[in-house]
Order: sequence, then structure tokens, then C-alpha cells
Amino acid sequence: MTRCDQTGAWQALGEHFARVRDFDLRQAFAADARRFEAFSLQAPHVFADLSKNLVDAQGRALLLQLARECGLEAQRDAMFAGEAINHTENRSVMHFLLRKPAPARTGAVQDATKTIASELPRVHETLQAMLAYAQEVRADAAITDVVNIGIGGSDLGPQMAVLALDEFASQGKRYHFVSNVDGHELAAVLRGLRPQSTLFLVASKTFTTLETMTNARSARDWFTQQGGTDVARHFAALTTNVAAAAEFGITRTFGFWDWVGGRYSMWSAIGLPIAIAIGPEGFRSLLAGAHAMDEHFAAAPLEQNLPVQLALLDVWYRNFHGFASRSVAPYHSALRRLPAYLQQLEMESNGKRVDRDGQALPYGTSPVVWGEPGTNGQHAYFQMLHQGTDVVPVEFIAVKTPAHRLGDHHQQLLANALAQAQALMLGKQDMGGHKHFTGNRPSTFLLLDRLDPASLGALVALYEHRVFCAGALWGINSFDQWGVELGKVLAKDIAPRLQSGDTAGLDGSTAGLLRRLLS
Ligand code: F6P
Repeated sequence: MTRCDQTGAWQALGEHFARVRDFDLRQAFAADARRFEAFSLQAPHVFADLSKNLVDAQGRALLLQLARECGLEAQRDAMFAGEAINHTENRSVMHFLLRKPAPARTGAVQDATKTIASELPRVHETLQAMLAYAQEVRADAAITDVVNIGIGGSDLGPQMAVLALDEFASQGKRYHFVSNVDGHELAAVLRGLRPQSTLFLVASKTFTTLETMTNARSARDWFTQQGGTDVARHFAALTTNVAAAAEFGITRTFGFWDWVGGRYSMWSAIGLPIAIAIGPEGFRSLLAGAHAMDEHFAAAPLEQNLPVQLALLDVWYRNFHGFASRSVAPYHSALRRLPAYLQQLEMESNGKRVDRDGQALPYGTSPVVWGEPGTNGQHAYFQMLHQGTDVVPVEFIAVKTPAHRLGDHHQQLLANALAQAQALMLGKQDMGGHKHFTGNRPSTFLLLDRLDPASLGALVALYEHRVFCAGALWGINSFDQWGVELGKVLAKDIAPRLQSGDTAGLDGSTAGLLRRLLS
């Protein structure tokens, strides 16, 4: 594999950018009546209009050349073959396996490598057990509240999906997500609970994460103090560290494997809250939607491959246009946690400053990913998107058919999504100064027929593969996260100092703040 900046295409893209620096979307549409058709793509469950991006046919061809020169297809195939592509942790990256149908349903796994053939039966055994348990909990009317205790990938995916699929959730149960070590969060949830009707799910890949273990211990203390007696019935663990869960006193554990990265784990046992909410069939449908996207990514030619096309635009914007952020605007309120989920997925995966060999990179990697649901964002930060000094590519996500029948709400919602994308592109030139909109601001429009388990699965898998592609082009390891370690170590050192007041060896600011906190 070749790092992007060492390819001929990179050089050619730089020269091309110098020529098309002033590329104008309005002129591009005027010159090409078929631009929409030429720059849109249908992937499983997701239609993508890429035509309002600052790229022409030649730029797109050079970006595809870049993908080929970087060996993107070989890198993708290495992941699907179960190779240890997370080389700093010597691990395979096989979250796609969690949504691969069982061998019995597809015939023999003829195409699989040894690793995959040996792991797949374990995956399905665990899935089966987890879904049976989910069904048991759904049928248990005495359990009214399910509390997921986890953070990062052990929180954001399940939380995002349970909210997104609320329409499909069984009635009669409430779902709570506690992640922060800030006790205000757990205390607020506990206030409304009774031990006999609560199920706590302690979700942690490692079962060592400070926040999760602190919250889990406090939840267990609360449970016994409130007269709860049957820990085995009211606590379950979702983890790769079965021994630590047992030591904690949890006997019901659903496991997964080190080849599932935390931020890629909602398809594993970590997805139990989703399975309880939408049921085994719904969860299988979520997996099937993601699997359909896996197959698209694995087999579609690069020209028609949506994760690849999105990643190429990411590189084009980050490294040639110099855009440092991307905004995600889901025009569906049930997707309100999607931007937070994508922040971890993209920024923890691709927020890296060295290449796979540990050499400092001379170019930018992950943009800042941020956003809020539309139309709310329009009344908050869209001002900056339209008239600010920085260009921020926007990603609209809309759904054709709503799940409600309320008046003309959905028509208004879709009209606003289309209008914002249109306004960003067209601008308004006939007024000067404060009322002037430059326009020519890029956006991508992703469209689902409806928001359901299958389309959500496909959408999330699309983002996972796009992040993989961008990381592969940048030549980085998208699957480790060493950058989160230092703060954890320092917090361990500081915590006892908040008792003792010892400031020895601390920098002046930290020492000053500590003294102030203790005064
Ligand atoms: O600190 C970062 C991180 O390791 C994430 O990658 C992960 O999703 C999160 O913490 C939670 O980790 P765990 O599931 O092991 O508790």
C-alpha cells in the first residue's frame, strides 16, 4: 500500500486543484444538464446525491486513481479477509462478521478465510443467546426500566439506535443511558427507578473503564440499599472481559471479541439494549441492512461504491480545499444522536497524526465532525454555514416517508432540507454587504426511503466503511485510539491530590486550580 502523498495521483490532484480552485457549482449545473444523474448513487437503502460537491469529472477520475494507487481495494480485501490490520494492537478488524448471515442460512462459508470460518459460528451462538435473552426481557412485564451503563462505543451506538428506532420499540419499557462519571447523570436516572423493576446492563469491552466501573458500583450499591436482592436477575454484563464481570458479581454475561473495536460494537452484545427495544427480528433486520452495505462495499466497482466516493470527497476537501470540518444535519429528529455517534466513529478512528509506520504526516486527517438535527440547526449555527468565513461541507440526511401522519410536518421538513442545500449552493448575489450570500458551498444529500432497522443498519455501515476508506487513503491506523490514554493516566494521578491537596510536581495552572478547588 502506498501513502496518498506518495502517489502520482496526489501530485496530479494538486495541479488539478490549482486549475479548478474557482470551480462554481452553479456553472457546473448550467453546463451539464445530467450532473445530478452523473454524481448520484444508489447503495443499499441509501441514495446519495453528490452533485452539489465541488468536484468535476476530471477531479473525480483523479480521486479514483488515487484510491487505486493507494491500494484501497487490497486494503479493503485485507480487512474482509480477517488480517490483523490494526497493527499497533495486533488485531483483526471484523465487525462486519457480526452481521454476516449464519453459515446454515447461506450454505457453507466457501469464500471465507480460516479466521472467518472459525469465528462465525461463535458469533452466531452469542447472537442467538443474546436475542433469546432480549426476548425474555421483553416478555418480562415486571421489568419496566432498562439502564445501559457504558461510555464511548459502549454507549453512543446503542443510545443512537434505540432513539432512532423508537417507532419500532416495544411499549411498556423505558431505556436510560448513563455514561458520564459525573454522578448527576446516574443520580437523575436512579431517582425515577425501583430496584425490582430495573435491569442494569453494564456495557464495557474492557470492563475496566473508570466511568463505567464507577457508575456500575454505584448502581449496585443503590440496588442493595434500596432493598434489591437478586443481582443475578437485575444485572447483566456485555463485555469481552468475562472474568472481570464475574468478579464484579455479574453472572449473566454476553461476550464479544477483541476484533470488535469499541466504536464498531453496536452489532455485538453491546447492541443488547437495541435488541430489547426492537426485538430479535428487528435486530436481525438491522444486521441485514448493515450486511447489505458490507456487500456493496466489498463488491461494487470504485466508481459506484458509495463509502469509497464519500471518503474520496473527504480527502479532496481536507487535503486540497483545506476544509477542517464537516457538519452532519439529519432531517429526522429520531437521528438526533447520530452526529455524536459519528464524532466518535470518525474522530477517534481518523484523528491521527502519524502514518502506519509512526512517521509524522505532512497533511491533515480527520475533520471535526459535528451537527444537530434539522430544522433546529437552521435556527442556531446555519448562519455561519451560509455567511461565515469558513466553508463547511454539510451532509444532509433525509427520509422520504415519515413514521407519523401529522399534518404537513414532513413536507415542511423536507422542504427545509432541500432549501438549505439549495441556498448553500445558489447563494444570493443581488444584495450587497450583510445580505449577500456567496453560495457555492458544498453539500451531500443522503436519502433513505424510511427510517427502519434495515436502513439504519445500512446507514451506519456506510459511515463505518467511509471512515475505513479515508483512513486507508491517509495511510493511518483507523482502529487504535492511543490518544485517549494520557488523560486517563493523569486523572488517576490527580484524583488523590483532590483529597490530599498535594500539588508537588504539578504544572502551575493545574496546581493553582487544585488549590482553588480545595479552598
Ligand atoms: O477511552 C476510549 C475508549 O476506549 C473507546 O474507544 C471505547 O469505546 C470507550 O473508551 C469505552 O471502552 P469500554 O467499552 O472498554 O468501556
